[in-house]
Amino acid sequence: MRLRAPLPGWTAKADVVVIGSGVAGLTTALQIRAHNLSVLLVTKSFIDAGSTKWAQGGIAAALGPGDSPDQHEKDTLVAGAGLCDLPAVKVLVSEGPEAVRKLIARGAVFDTSETGEIALTREGGHLRNRILHAGGDATGAEVSRALLAAVSNDPGIEVIEHALVLDALKTKAGRVCGVTIHVIGEGTRDGVGQVLARAVVLATGGLGQVYSQTTNPSVSTGDGVALALRAGADVADVEFIQFHPTVLYMGEGSRGQQPLISEAVRGEGAFLVNDRGERFMRGVHPLADLAPRDIVAKEISRQMQLTGSHHVWLDARSIKDFSERFPTINASCKEIGINPVTDLIPVAPASHYASGGVRTDLNGHSSVPGLYAVGETACTGAHGANRLASNSLLEGLVFGARIAEDIAANLPEYEDPAPQDSFDFLLSPSIRGELQRAMSKGASVVRSKESLQETLTTLAKLKNASTIFANLDAWETTNLYLLATAIVRSALERTESRGSHWREDFPETSSEWTKRIHQSLSKNGDWKSATEEVFNDLSIAR
Ligand code: SIN
Repeated sequence: MRLRAPLPGWTAKADVVVIGSGVAGLTTALQIRAHNLSVLLVTKSFIDAGSTKWAQGGIAAALGPGDSPDQHEKDTLVAGAGLCDLPAVKVLVSEGPEAVRKLIARGAVFDTSETGEIALTREGGHLRNRILHAGGDATGAEVSRALLAAVSNDPGIEVIEHALVLDALKTKAGRVCGVTIHVIGEGTRDGVGQVLARAVVLATGGLGQVYSQTTNPSVSTGDGVALALRAGADVADVEFIQFHPTVLYMGEGSRGQQPLISEAVRGEGAFLVNDRGERFMRGVHPLADLAPRDIVAKEISRQMQLTGSHHVWLDARSIKDFSERFPTINASCKEIGINPVTDLIPVAPASHYASGGVRTDLNGHSSVPGLYAVGETACTGAHGANRLASNSLLEGLVFGARIAEDIAANLPEYEDPAPQDSFDFLLSPSIRGELQRAMSKGASVVRSKESLQETLTTLAKLKNASTIFANLDAWETTNLYLLATAIVRSALERTESRGSHWREDFPETSSEWTKRIHQSLSKNGDWKSATEEVFNDLSIAR
């Protein structure tokens, strides 16, 4: 399967093509350069437009006194609700501290305490202070700045902006040997072209735009995961969409990217209250307001159902120097007339992070030879059913470096793509709003067979809206459609509640479901699903 698009009108070549310019893509590109290979970095909008720069809370790493990779591992497994891959978690937490030190060596500057040590804070699900932050709540912006500076100083990395990846190119034997991309450019590289490469790395970030309200920027349309599906790769854990519990409530009609209120605000003493002023997280979990975020998001949704309100409240009035510690959040609140020093902040859950994605092994290989995935695009298994706060930037750093090493050690020669004999399709951009509304209504924090089936029916209807007019909006909408279908199919199949997948009709976690669901597309576009057993320690209490 491929997206309907004009035939490639130009060709470029690089040893490795990296699609995406967030922490995962940039880290992979820089590490590949350590082996003197050429890199073409393709990014859909401006190079700094992805999710990374929006990350507030920070990077989790066991660097503080009294902390250890073992404790970080335990917290990650608890949050992951029995579906983490232990080897992937071990890699994440044990290679994490070194990856952070490397990031610092590349120029990232983190906030320090009065004694000059890196200041570490707490977020939901962490039993130790282990979150590094920068600029108070602007961690992602600093990470992005430092990595982009390093990339721009490296003549071996060519960057193409305003370039949407369309589909994988494959050799006769089925190995991925490049991609087609559409560039809004000038001169020779304008329109659809092909990039031939010895390895392709998907680092396109998340897919939050599948929902009406999300913390993700407008570019987060899951283009890499959709490409991988069309290329025949397995995706896994896609039902585990993480809803961030505290997203600034901007009013009923507000759509698209919404401002995040970092968990670090609760980490520094803020707490949630309902319309009656009750601290409802007390008694729900021993960590109360700092429980793993799926638990907090569920309880907020329950409170909203109980009171009929569209939001709950976050009380951050006890935090000293709020505007200095959280300048970004302070500015967002002020924009809607809220002063966190004197007012309660209205918050509601919104789609935030895809814990699943393209199923990869510990070196980032997808199930299709030549195709790698990293960061939010990938499903390494490190997050299980619910990613632990601030493990995502870390995952990009750790697995980006591993992929680069794997590529350098196993790089094949260039091969020509075989003629494309797959069928193409494209959906009209006019369906995007209805798709997002259907997903927010039926496949959100709370799901049931009924709500999911209704969503699937809407999606089936929307599939009739095919178009011949290929453009960015149509390509993105078609990607969103594929991803929405994969999410709903997996959510229907998983007849239990676990992590960020909450089925009203199956409220218990079931030992029958200690497995991940893989979805893939056959050559003729039919969906296939399979399960993979997960060997994890279910005795770890949540
Ligand atoms: C936050 O700052 O609350 C978000 C951190 C994350 O998603 O890991």
